[in-house]
Amino acid sequence: MKLVLTGAAGRLGSYLREPLAQLADEFVSTDIVDDIGNLYDGERYVKADLAELDDMMAVLKGADMVVHMGAYADEAPFEKLFGPNFVGAYNVWEAAYQNGVKRVIYGSSIHAVGMHPKNEFIGTDAPHRPDTFYGLAKCFAEDLGRMYWDKRGVESVHMRILSCAQVTGARALGSWLSYDDLIHLVQRCIETPVTGFSVIYGVSDNDRVPVDNSKASFIGYRPKDNAEQFAKDILANDPPMDPQNPEHMCHGGPFASVPLGNSGIAQMDIIDDTKQN
Ligand SMILES: NC(=O)c1ccc[n+]([C@@H]2O[C@H](COP(=O)([O-])OP(=O)(O)OC[C@H]3O[C@@H](n4cnc5c(N)ncnc54)[C@H](O)[C@@H]3O)[C@@H](O)[C@H]2O)c1
Repeated sequence: MKLVLTGAAGRLGSYLREPLAQLADEFVSTDIVDDIGNLYDGERYVKADLAELDDMMAVLKGADMVVHMGAYADEAPFEKLFGPNFVGAYNVWEAAYQNGVKRVIYGSSIHAVGMHPKNEFIGTDAPHRPDTFYGLAKCFAEDLGRMYWDKRGVESVHMRILSCAQVTGARALGSWLSYDDLIHLVQRCIETPVTGFSVIYGVSDNDRVPVDNSKASFIGYRPKDNAEQFAKDILANDPPMDPQNPEHMCHGGPFASVPLGNSGIAQMDIIDDTKQN
């Protein structure tokens, strides 16, 4: 099986490269950076721009599946997201179709549905309700994936990741996706024999999980980690919640309250723990 990983130089990509290199017969990692550092056994790196269809056509040549994680991974003005996130998604699906790729496994986000209130235990069929242009790009890619399945038979699994980063605040007690569970989720998305078009939330087995994955249980994703282990320390230090603040009340957290075009990540305490090889 030939597998391609976009966004390979990113934080999530850094945790996926080694297990995907082991899983695939042929593994190509790709990103826009010049150099990705030391390669794992069986890995080949190709520099490519998501916004260029020719680049995507070349990296997906002969591939069976692509794990598409490359993006500008924050809220920003529409013009900044347009190339990597909107055109990039089109290029990945179009190149997948033209190259006969069976399945796209996509790093979607809770921000596609981020304006839904958190006290609604939303399922994978909740209507799109983006909180930002960034979330809107995730909605676009999900709809693209649905259309390429309906009209062209390209399968896709859309992993709506909640927050895959170290637990540093109260929101993450519900939204955390551990790196081990991320790897397991991506493996299940690859190994499930038939997926058609599917959506699944990327979240660990947290006591406070705010979303419902029951309609995607056929994928066999059974997370093992639980953010409750951090609750005592986090809640001792976190300021009280404000029921009038969308940041506290909506699934999108800080992205639900930032003005359109302004960074949501800047409001979060993300630790850069990119895995080094
Ligand atoms: N980290 C999270 O909690 C989280 C949550 C929801 C969704 N996601 C999604 O998962 C994916 C990976 O997230 P991450 O946290 O690793 O982000 P990241 O910013 O660390 O990695 C994204 C990678 O995409 C690459 N990229 C950007 N523009 C490109 C272009 N034009 N061509 C080729 N590559 C380009 C970047 O160089 C970077 O290495 C993203 O699509 C993100 O939206 C992440």
